[in-house]
Amino acid sequence: MQVEVKPVLSDSKVAKVFSPSNIALAKYWGKRDVALNLPTNSSVSATLKDFGSFTTVEFNSSFSSDEVYLNRQLLAASATTKIKRVLDLIRGYAQYDGGARVQSVNNFPTAAGLASSASGLSALTLAAAKALQLDLNLTKLSEIARQGSGSACRSLFAGFVKWQRGEIADGSDSVANSIAAANFWPFKIIIAITNAHSKANASTNAMQATKETSPYFEAWVKNAHWQAQQIEQAILQKDFSLLAELAETNCIRMHASAMAANPPILYWNQQTIQVLTEVQALRKKGLAAFFTIDAGPNVVVFALPQDFEKIYNHLTSIANLDLLVTEIGEGAKSIL
Ligand code: PMV
Repeated sequence: MQVEVKPVLSDSKVAKVFSPSNIALAKYWGKRDVALNLPTNSSVSATLKDFGSFTTVEFNSSFSSDEVYLNRQLLAASATTKIKRVLDLIRGYAQYDGGARVQSVNNFPTAAGLASSASGLSALTLAAAKALQLDLNLTKLSEIARQGSGSACRSLFAGFVKWQRGEIADGSDSVANSIAAANFWPFKIIIAITNAHSKANASTNAMQATKETSPYFEAWVKNAHWQAQQIEQAILQKDFSLLAELAETNCIRMHASAMAANPPILYWNQQTIQVLTEVQALRKKGLAAFFTIDAGPNVVVFALPQDFEKIYNHLTSIANLDLLVTEIGEGAKSIL
């Protein structure tokens, strides 16, 4: 699906990109530098094959300011801060000072804790760089995408992806890379949509509130640090039981740290809990499934292909649940 609200001008510098969303197995939750989106810990994700953002970036010296259309709606300037940050960085590298028109469409629920900011900001980064014919490698692009939205730095890469916390103050070593290809360990991924509407708590605010008011934040960071390493190892060793246990505890601990903020940050609804209880019960029965939940009420279930049908059928018995199915896929790429 690709929809444009405005025709592209013939003298514009244009590029179009599809960038997938990604789901963290070891979560990013906490910034050590808010302006640069530098994380308190490394994180590990899987890139989704089919769900993401189709983004067109058009630069033209006749545009006096930037204009952004998300899902065919013109965004208010106040909602485009992250987007402008990326455009300004790209313009800086290219020494270009024209305005941009950005048109982006998501093929999955936007801002519902399914990382639409990851797909959107990574698509924007790659498309803007391509439009201005910048020759930047993926590592550099991930450094730029991270400054739009932290998790966006991971969507540029295929398969299983690690975003290094990094140590340097300017963030130049806080970048992502692929640790295993998309077909390294095939999973079926079921996205259980319990509520497709936008979430109340934007992740940046929620992370900051957790850091400032949750007594569990410090414990979360310590835990997240070693779990990111263990999750990477569990993936590389294809140790399903270990990965299942680590990914679920990592997710619950992230949410627990947020729930303990004041006021509490609670993303889940009744069905969220129903899905995660069901997945745990299925695993006890010997089926290869585990869950994870980003900053929203929807649950992402990772299933090994041999058990996928049974797991999917069990989930269909939960009322009012929409199920999307995908696999692990490639990173952001240019499209025509
Ligand atoms: O990149 P942001 O600011 O949308 O934050 C993402 C936070 C989580 O999705 C909850 C975790 C993660 O690592 O993606």
